Amino acid sequence: MITLTDIAYVRSGVADLNAATRFATGIVGLELAEPAEPGVAHLRADHRHHCLALVRGPSGVISSGFTVAGPDELDAAETELERSGTRVYRGSAAEARSRRVREFIAFDDPFGNRLELVTGQVTVARPVAFSRAAGITEFGHLCLDAPDIYDAHRYWSTRFNARVSDWIQDRACLLRIDPVHHKLAVFQGDRPGMCHMNFQVESLDDVFRNWHFLVSQGVEIEMGPGRHPQSTAIFLYFLGPEGFTYEYSFGVRRIEDDAAWVPRVFDPAEPGSIDMWLGPTRRVASQPQLTGAPVAGNLNAERDAAGVSRRPETVGGNVS
Ligand SMILES: [Fe+2]
Repeated sequence: MITLTDIAYVRSGVADLNAATRFATGIVGLELAEPAEPGVAHLRADHRHHCLALVRGPSGVISSGFTVAGPDELDAAETELERSGTRVYRGSAAEARSRRVREFIAFDDPFGNRLELVTGQVTVARPVAFSRAAGITEFGHLCLDAPDIYDAHRYWSTRFNARVSDWIQDRACLLRIDPVHHKLAVFQGDRPGMCHMNFQVESLDDVFRNWHFLVSQGVEIEMGPGRHPQSTAIFLYFLGPEGFTYEYSFGVRRIEDDAAWVPRVFDPAEPGSIDMWLGPTRRVASQPQLTGAPVAGNLNAERDAAGVSRRPETVGGNVS
């Protein structure tokens, strides 16, 4: 069992780095870290050095990062994954530097999502210099796609310490790794990918102020404002460049009495199961998982050497 202590970051490939960075700062409101690496924009929302790295290259999610407690736990995770038959890549010093972590390992989940476990993620003490007053307090959660959410639950709850908080029948599994109702969610999707990346905001007022701002800027609102009955969070989903869905939300439930919590099942066909305010709902856009990244290249080279069949590549090219 691998203990995830937190979510760390999302790394996403963008064909137009300038446009994606302008959106992440001027629209979403994130801070752009001092450029230190050509072709990479590090975006900050909280104590983390960054929680979103935009990397010039083909569009698509590169990886999702999670923290483990320390180097020993990372070594143990690597051993455990390899024993279970998972190919694990140990990040180079340069790759770790780009992620602002001490060390990391990368591997694919059974559904083709690239995961990274990290230790020593850099904390920045200085207050975040937000580009816009969106009210962001922190990187809230990330959401991955898998063809079968029950298979995904089995993976996350047996290989890792994730526990289901609630189900949206056949559509979504909302998972916690700490008292927050969900820091990870898996949505039903035929291809691996990133369904959305969430930022918590300080107040209900921020959600509605942001809504008016996004509309005034011509940003596509995918869903909301509304309220999820599972987490009780008031949500707003909107579409960024290159198919990347962002979410603001406020008021996520905390599960303090872990042992007493019983996961509930919500039928998506029932009115109010996604938005208890009964607004229009839809499946938000997912950004497909990239499979041409160097880590994948290394993994694929290993697979080729081992004679293991590769899953089809949907996107070629190099992404660092
Ligand atoms: Fe969400």
